[in-house]
Amino acid sequence: MKKQTIEVQISDGVAKVVLNRPQKKNAMSPQLHRDIVDVLEQLRYEPAAKVLVITGAGDSFCAGMDLKEFFAELKDRPEEYDRVYRMATEWRSRTLRHFPKPTIAMINGFCFGGAFSIVEGCDLAFAADEAKLGLSEINFKGFPGGSVSKSLANLLRPRDALFYGLTGRPFGGQEAARIGLVNMSFPLSRLEAETMAIAKEIAGKDPVALKATKDGYRFSLEMPMDAALNFITAKEAEMTLRQGDAWRNEGIGDFNKGKFRPGLGGHEAVKR
Ligand code: COA
Repeated sequence: MKKQTIEVQISDGVAKVVLNRPQKKNAMSPQLHRDIVDVLEQLRYEPAAKVLVITGAGDSFCAGMDLKEFFAELKDRPEEYDRVYRMATEWRSRTLRHFPKPTIAMINGFCFGGAFSIVEGCDLAFAADEAKLGLSEINFKGFPGGSVSKSLANLLRPRDALFYGLTGRPFGGQEAARIGLVNMSFPLSRLEAETMAIAKEIAGKDPVALKATKDGYRFSLEMPMDAALNFITAKEAEMTLRQGDAWRNEGIGDFNKGKFRPGLGGHEAVKR
């Protein structure tokens, strides 16, 4: 799958989605937003893609919104500005957040501003130690607009969000892991191998149970207790129906027959 600004390679159940404007540090132009919306729509229904890994071409993950093609060139075209703005916030804060398959951000280099909403919209994130991340908006007399402020509020502790938001200081992958923006940081030379190993591990799990895990976490966060408990009960019924009761038959059933130990790993990986 190849678009003007995005390339997708699928292997072993993992779709690697590459933001592909390396000459512009993969900044999100209006065309990139259009392309990623199409790509996510196709991958949603692509059976070979069980997990998505989003990364960037060259030395950059994503340099945020395109400061020229979006903010400057659409300044006097309010309708087009609004169209792109809505698309830009929608795919990161809704489509990606509630994507029916697990998503991973692999931060291979520069990651600024609007790119934080890609990172936060993904379920997991891994960074290179050498990556350079930052809420650079304050440095150009702006602030984390669009979906970014909400992403910070969702993910970071108040002190970290406001420290980096107010100073605009860049930081590396290890600091990103320390503040919980990413799960882990690895030397760049190992980033892809480590990330893909985790992606493949997840791709081997039951897809309906993976979606229930995401939905149970993400939606219940926004619900009061009674609504959450009711929602989770309904989710269990939905999962049972959609996977044909695989969790009880092949999962718990095989444990009860002494075939594997789920506490120690996946159904196939850890046999007695
Ligand atoms: N929007 C549009 N173009 C961008 C961009 C952005 N967010 N980030 C980088 N580019 C472009 C540069 O304008 C340059 O284009 P040119 O070659 O046509 O002049 C090209 O990408 C390479 O960038 P350059 O600045 O020369 O590379 P660098 O390695 O010296 O610095 C960055 C890289 C990312 C640190 C620097 O480009 C930067 O600060 N970008 C802005 C980041 C930002 O504030 N993003 C938040 C947006 S919400």
